[in-house]
Amino acid sequence: MHDIWIEKYRPRKLDGIVGQEFIINRLKAYAKTKNVPHLIFAGPAGTGKTASAIALAREVFGGEFWGQNFHELNASDERGIGIIRGKIKDFARTAPLEKTSFKIIFLDEADSLTADAQAALRRTIERYAHNCRFILSVNYSSKIIEPIQSRCAVFRFKPIKAEDIEKYVHMIALKEKLEITPNGLETLIFIAKGDMRKAINVLQIGASLNKKITAKLLHETSFTARSEDVKTLINTALGGNFMAARNQLYNLLIKHGLSGEDIIRQIQQIIFDLTIPDKNKVQLIEKTGETEFRLIRGKNEHIQLESLLAQIVLMGKLLKDFSSNKT
Ligand SMILES: Nc1ncnc2c1ncn2[C@@H]1O[C@H](COP(=O)(O)OP(=O)(O)OP(=O)(O)O)[C@@H](O)[C@H]1O
Ligand SMILES: [Mg+2]
Repeated sequence: MHDIWIEKYRPRKLDGIVGQEFIINRLKAYAKTKNVPHLIFAGPAGTGKTASAIALAREVFGGEFWGQNFHELNASDERGIGIIRGKIKDFARTAPLEKTSFKIIFLDEADSLTADAQAALRRTIERYAHNCRFILSVNYSSKIIEPIQSRCAVFRFKPIKAEDIEKYVHMIALKEKLEITPNGLETLIFIAKGDMRKAINVLQIGASLNKKITAKLLHETSFTARSEDVKTLINTALGGNFMAARNQLYNLLIKHGLSGEDIIRQIQQIIFDLTIPDKNKVQLIEKTGETEFRLIRGKNEHIQLESLLAQIVLMGKLLKDFSSNKT
């Protein structure tokens, strides 16, 4: 059984977090005085927001107790603010263990909450301020309503610098007995684009294929890693959420720089992993084939891909109706 490196190499201490020096110094000061305000951690994916929150909790509460005094919730997993408030209430009800007078609630993806839900969250924060500190993790702090922002210290996490990714990757390579060629390293840094999680994930997938990490290996690897994203995209569409699927599509096209043909090729590769009836797999192969044909003939890429997504959404709906009629 191999472990997941982003967990294995998640820094245990604030000192282990690379880059973000300004933030880490402030967090260390909070840990030392055991005095933590409400916080907003803003910044792109894979830059250490969750890792910093956990490391802070470990240092404030100590290695044995941090787990009981720290609670992580994901705003986009929980169906609505009611569920979040319920969980916060349950957690806040019991007294914190050891040394401190407060617990920490880490709310991931807080910017996915609507303004109404945030207003409710604000009341919850106030209500439990006597024994809970909140850390909200967001991509953009501007998506958090002003009354919450004004109650929090806002820290902006930056993309991890190439040299910091390099150092971390070297540390992992040493422990995992990997050899990384110079252009392998350059490629890894290029693929990661400041996202340490991505750097580590791509490195791990590469290392599972070969202990010698070259540019070529990583290019193949990052192709596989993106096929996971494509799978998520198709499952979102099958689940019936067109707008979310469309967002994921544009993410792949714009942020990850995939071409329409790349995406089609990856969809074709994952069709057989989908949990839909074979008949629908065949349909999907036909539809992607048509889309591919139109793309090659130079038809508008975005329109063609959106139309394919819409057809997949429809397919998902039919499947759902079919299975609910059966039961
Ligand atoms: N600054 C960092 N120093 C060391 N490791 C890091 C850093 N940032 C990220 N990592 C590595 O990447 C993994 C993911 O980081 P983390 O969960 O903290 O990202 P995040 O900023 O919370 O991203 P997201 O916005 O996607 O939640 C960590 O487990 C760790 O292995
Ligand atoms: Mg996180």
